[in-house]
Amino acid sequence: MATDVPSIKLASGYDMPLVGFGMWKVRNETCAAQSMRWSKARLENEAWGIGYLDLFLIHFPIAPEFIPFDKIRHPCFWTDKEQTQVTPLVKVPIRETWQMLEELVQTKNPNGVVRSVGVSEFHTQLIYDVLSYNKLPLSTLQIEHHPYLTQPELIAIAQENGIAVTGYSTFGPQSLLELGNAAAQGVKPLFETDVVKSIAEKHGKSPGQVLLRGCKQRNIIVIPKSNSVDRLKQNLSLFDFNLSEYQIKQISSLDRGLRFNVPNTLQRPIRTFT
Ligand SMILES: NC(=O)c1ccc[n+]([C@@H]2O[C@H](COP(=O)([O-])OP(=O)(O)OC[C@H]3O[C@@H](n4cnc5c(N)ncnc54)[C@H](OP(=O)(O)O)[C@@H]3O)[C@@H](O)[C@H]2O)c1
Repeated sequence: MATDVPSIKLASGYDMPLVGFGMWKVRNETCAAQSMRWSKARLENEAWGIGYLDLFLIHFPIAPEFIPFDKIRHPCFWTDKEQTQVTPLVKVPIRETWQMLEELVQTKNPNGVVRSVGVSEFHTQLIYDVLSYNKLPLSTLQIEHHPYLTQPELIAIAQENGIAVTGYSTFGPQSLLELGNAAAQGVKPLFETDVVKSIAEKHGKSPGQVLLRGCKQRNIIVIPKSNSVDRLKQNLSLFDFNLSEYQIKQISSLDRGLRFNVPNTLQRPIRTFT
């Protein structure tokens, strides 16, 4: 499927497409259908014998105890393998973790193990903190972003500082419904709101496309996940229509400060969003 997806220039100098594929909860068949098995296989490559990673993020501003790979090949990072114990936190400051990421960029193999580095779920104070000591650019910030949780100030501080924002869960509650998430079940799906539905009708597009397009117009990278090949194609077809400023404002006015992705393992929430 040939689709020209525009890119954004990261502070690292590398380009990043404005639309990617989210892989969380994606079935293996979908990976195969999208030729993504190769990238999954690359990541799973024994001994990390891969060429390089385009982008590597500190995912969650916390430092759980390291679980050796022979205990869990892909640690679920806040519980043990049996999911009976919450992984304890260790005394490692973000600065140390960030400096390790910088080392990965600087390690030649021959092109660097990692090209660009960024963070996920960081808030303003932590971003300012990283910006006070980073030697390499903080290229991206990945956050939950959808009309029920717009986070305009956080996006502004990132973009003002040359940090590209990636919004995840662009469809709000939709992704969490399949996990039986109570907060997601308790709100109207964004696709069914009058605002999104009427804008979609006006443009002859799907509600999903409208939400993704609204991000694109604000230079927010999106990574929608889908197990449907048709919807994957649809999510890449965002470049032949324009939302007006007014329509973007209407969509943002649905904001309710509603966050759906709150890690809550074994009934012990990790309170990083307070
Ligand atoms: N940094 C973090 O902490 C974090 C947290 C959550 C997610 N993420 C990343 O962000 C990616 C995307 O977020 P997400 O998976 O939470 O949510 P999402 O992409 O907003 O939503 C996925 C849901 O929307 C459906 N869908 C996809 N395209 C659609 C369309 N065009 N029309 C109608 N429904 C559509 C999918 O169903 P079908 O599969 O049936 O199409 C699925 O139920 C993840 O895969 C993951 O990589 C990061």
